[in-house]
Formats: sequence, structure tokens, C-alpha cells
Amino acid sequence: MKHYITTPIYYVNAKPHLGHAYTTIINDILNRFHRLAGYDTYFLTGTDEHGDKIVQAAAQANQTPQAYVDYISGLFQKAWPPLSVEVNDFIRTTEERHKEVVARFMDLVNKNGQIYFGEYGGHYCFGCERFYTEKELVNGLCPDHQTKPQFISEKNYFFKMSSYQDWLIDYIKKRPDFIRPEGYRSEVLGFLRDPLEDLCITRPKTRLTWGVDVPFDNHYVTYVWFDALINYISALGWPDGEKFAKYWPVVQHTIAKDILKPHAIFWPTMLKAANMPIYRHLNVHGYWRVGQSKMSKSVGNVVEAMTLVDKYGSDPFRYFLAREMTFGLDSDFSEDRLVERYNADLANDLGNLWQRATSMILKFNEGLIPISLPASDDESWYRRLDDLKSIYESAFLSVNYRAALNAVWDFVGYLNKSVDVEAPWALAKDPAKKNRLDTVLARFAQGLAYIGSLIWPVMPKTAVDIWGRLGLNPNYLTLDFRKIFAMLPYDRVIDPGQPLFPRVDLTGETKPPKSPKPASKPPEKPVALPPGIISISDFQKVELRVAEISQAEAVKGSEKLVKLRVNLGYEERTICAGIAKHFTPEELVGQRVVVVANLAPAKLMGLVSEGMLLAASSEGQLALITPNRQVPLGSKIS
Ligand code: ME8
Ligand code: MG
Repeated sequence: MKHYITTPIYYVNAKPHLGHAYTTIINDILNRFHRLAGYDTYFLTGTDEHGDKIVQAAAQANQTPQAYVDYISGLFQKAWPPLSVEVNDFIRTTEERHKEVVARFMDLVNKNGQIYFGEYGGHYCFGCERFYTEKELVNGLCPDHQTKPQFISEKNYFFKMSSYQDWLIDYIKKRPDFIRPEGYRSEVLGFLRDPLEDLCITRPKTRLTWGVDVPFDNHYVTYVWFDALINYISALGWPDGEKFAKYWPVVQHTIAKDILKPHAIFWPTMLKAANMPIYRHLNVHGYWRVGQSKMSKSVGNVVEAMTLVDKYGSDPFRYFLAREMTFGLDSDFSEDRLVERYNADLANDLGNLWQRATSMILKFNEGLIPISLPASDDESWYRRLDDLKSIYESAFLSVNYRAALNAVWDFVGYLNKSVDVEAPWALAKDPAKKNRLDTVLARFAQGLAYIGSLIWPVMPKTAVDIWGRLGLNPNYLTLDFRKIFAMLPYDRVIDPGQPLFPRVDLTGETKPPKSPKPASKPPEKPVALPPGIISISDFQKVELRVAEISQAEAVKGSEKLVKLRVNLGYEERTICAGIAKHFTPEELVGQRVVVVANLAPAKLMGLVSEGMLLAASSEGQLALITPNRQVPLGSKIS
């Protein structure tokens, strides 16, 4: 299963702001969701660096266009890692690899007879870098910039977009989730009720040189959409690139509604004209508004994402953006609202659940996660988890971020309530209720571990933190809760740690986090023992655990040694064991064994061995020690 997702490539006429951060973060979230679900994923972002606007911005900054675009593009590249955004590639339209593909694509469309030379006069908005029809103007002004467009007439190359109108209408009508959410799909079908015009795709070099040369006429450059949109394939090395073959068939684009028309109309018709497959989905979101108007550089009300991240952390910031905005609709941004959500959802709901559940495990089971015992309502527990998983998955698959998080928070609410309903403090007083207490505590741990996985796409740092505190290895984060439960270590003291989300007051100051009480143990008294006898605490120093042999191979040059990979549930290790004369590698794979898990590593025949296997020996025969019934990998032997 594969997944390829793109952001718009952002103009380098302004620094990155909250709007850019939003699109990039929600794509990262969707990408991580697919990673968690086991997909082979590819995530592309980049910068759009040609055109009038850039030349003007560079001139204002007293720089050459190249120096200017290098600088701003660098700001975009540096903006993403602190937001936990992990991209596979960052494409710049001034790169050779991109320009070559643009030329090749234009040549192809031209050879297919879809480009002609003609004269055009129209209302041109420099802000949008496009011509507007009379009808599109609002009171004679650009609907986006509220400025009066200039009337320009010149000879240019045109793409025969109009001839694809019927094809496009049919294509969209047949695919209900091609453009989503539905509101934007109907908006596009609405545009298409009027006759589609041909698209002007060049500028004469007398007017502009900062663009990609038209391959068949060196008096012209192409730019704007016949340059920018092509980034989605140039980054994959179209037409022969391996990545193109692999990821293009599953591509989906995410944009805000400002660039709906180029993506919903220009791009599919361009692809069709090149005989290429059309993208799978166009995900369209609304605007973040600040004080009633769209946040934008030209309006001058931009929110610098990084100051908020410094103040509240990248996880809460990502969480807020994903939970607050209904995908497709506009949302008002305010720091107060962010703080409200932080306190209500993170500090209270999730933070309290963590604090309460872990402290009960600490108090009533010495910090150990009980092995979940069969209970009469186990079936309903698993049904609840199955339902949660399917709601969560289908929400993400339909880009409904808010619904995915709502489902997780419903579960957080359920667990918080079950702390009260089950009242572990009461169960703990009655020895007859030990089984129930164990079940309840085990479910808290299981629930928290699963929440850790479910929030990873949105809050990767918190997820890894939660898993670490529970003794789970975050390399194995997964949506499969049964696998997670099998990995839970039942014999390591969990670490409640500091509060996950210390409360914040509206001035933005955090209260000092309360430090949890360290579990106090009485100091050991030294006792004199007869020679050859060890104390229980001596024995307890040896950490024996159940493991499964996942791989076995003979060690070259050794008659005795076998190199094993053993799975301890929470991690895998290499162990070299001197059992080659007794077992073939094939016999060993899949065996459950007992290993000494806290042995200092040793080097044998140049290989590092991280543990020891237990075996009984008698009269030259070896027998592996193996548990007599199924227990989770990593179970401690005592
Ligand atoms: O349009 N709310 O680049 P751009 C939500 N280069 N999202 C916002 C936003 C807001 N207030 N402001 C910006 C371009 N965005 C072209 C794209 S693609 C082939 C070429 C986000 O820098 C949102 O994703 O103007 C929007 O579509 C994009 O930034 C526009 O970025
Ligand atoms: Mg813009």
C-alpha cells in the first residue's frame, strides 16, 4: 500500500506563517497516519520561485532574484523540522531537475497539438498572477486582493483547456471523492457550468525573464501554473523516475480554497493533455482568519507560527490546528482559543487520565502492569477498541482530522469515567476482587498505550514519551492494538513521570509541573548466609525473560556457535549460543526460550552477543528451557 501527498509549493514572496504551517502540518499528520497503518509513504513540499511577484519582492529587498529566493526558500526549509514535519523531498522551481521536466512536459503537450499561439487581452491581477474574466471580478476588483486588475493585451501561447470541459465534468461527476469535501466539488462543477476558456501559459521575455524558457520559442518564458503545478511530477523524476512509477498512481494534493481552480481545472486538463493519469484526491481546506479577515501577508495580520510553538510546544500546536478547524471550513485563530483547548483537552482530559491511571498502577500493583486476565466483559473491551480503530481510520482516510481526534478523545473520556466507575481503590480493599483489579489496571495501561499510538500522527513527541514511560519501544508504534498489548512489558515498573501537559494560564505562563513521588523502597539489610547460598535479592539481579527466536544462522568458522535474533517483545537482540552441535538453525527459528536479559554484552568470534540462552544439559544432550504455556514475549521469570 502506497501513499503520496503534496502541499502547495509556497511563494517565496513572504516568510512562512500559520497558514503555510497548517497545510504542511495536516499533510504530515495524514502522512504519519499512513506510516502507522503500514503504508509506503512519500511526502513532498517545496517553494514556488518564479514570476513577477518574486522579482518585485527581490527588488524591494535590494537583492537579485536568485539570492532572494535562496534566502526565503531556506526559511521554508528550516521552518518544518521544529514542527515535527518530516518530508521526503523539498522541491524548488528554480532547480534544474524541475525546469527540465517543465520543458519536457510543454514539449509533449505541444506535440499533442494542445498549445497554440494567439492574441489575448484581459484583466490581469499581479497579486494572483492570472487573468480574470469580467464575471469573476467583484465590483471590478480582484476577489482575492480587492485591487483593480490591469488590462493587458499581448501575443502569447495558449493551452487548449476549453476542449476538456465535457471530459472534466464527466470525470468529476463519476468520482464523488475526487475533490473533497463535497462543498468544493460542487463549487468546481459550478464553475464548469460556464464555458471554459483556454489558458494563457507564457509571458514574452520583453516583460519577464524570471521563468522557465519555453522549449519551442526562446522569446517566451512559461511560468505560473504551467510551471508550478508540474512540481508534483518533477520531484518524482517524471517520466522515467522510479519514484514516479511508484507514487504517482496514488497521489493526493492538499491546498486551501485560494488555489482551487488551478488545481481542480487547470491541472487535471494539463495531465489529460499529456495522456497522464489524474491525481486521486484534491483535499481542500478553508482559511485561518484573524480578526474577521483571511490571514495573509497582504492584509498584514499574519500569525508567526514559531512564536506559538516556542510558547506551547509543537505537539499542542499541531493538536490545536488539527482539532480546531473543520476541514473545508474557515476557522478563527486566536491564542486564547489555543490555550482553552490546551487546558481542556490536553492538561485535563489526557493529562489527568495519564496521571490517575498510572498512579493507580503504582499504588495498587507496585507500578507493574498486571497481565490482563480473562474477564466476563473482555469481549466488550475489544469491541470498543475495534470500533475506535475503524472510526479513526475512516476519519483519516476521508481527511476528517477533527473526527479522528474526536474518536480518540471519546475514548479518553471513557477511560477517565471508568476510573470512577471501577474505583480501583475500593477493589484493592477486597482480596476477592483481585482479578477485577488486575483487569482494570491492565486496561488502563492498554488504553494508554493505544492512545499513544493513535495520537502519534498528531503529537509524535507525546506519543513516544507515553510509550517510553510504559516500557514500550516506540519503533513498534502501530494501529494494531492486539500487537501492542502483546508487547506491553508486564514486569517493568512504569514511569508516571512529569505531567504530560502542565496547565497554562491565559497569560501563557505554565505552572511549575508537580513532580510525582518517587517509589520508595526500604534499604536492603545485609544478612550473613551459608557458603553457596544466595539471597533472593541476589537471584533477582538476574533478569530472565521469555523470548522467541526469530532468526538463526551458523557462525562461519565455528563448530559450536549459532547466531540468533531473539524477540523480547519490547526489543530484538542478537545472541550467540554454543548450541550448533545440538540444533540446526531451522529447528531453532520460532522456538520460545528463556534468556538472561541483563548480561553484559560479550564478544564471541568477532560477534557481539547480548544475552544468554538457558538450556539443560545431561550426558552430552542439550534441552532448551521453554515456557509450558503461551505467555507474552518479554515476560519475566521469577
Ligand atoms: O498559492 N489559511 O502559494 P502561497 C489557510 N505558489 N491556509 C493558508 C492561509 C490561510 N490564511 N494562507 C496561506 C501559492 N495558506 C502558489 C501555489 S501550488 C502548485 C502553487 C496556505 O504561498 C494554503 O495551503 O500563496 C494555501 O493554498 C497556500 O498557503 C498558498 O500559498
Ligand atoms: Mg497566496
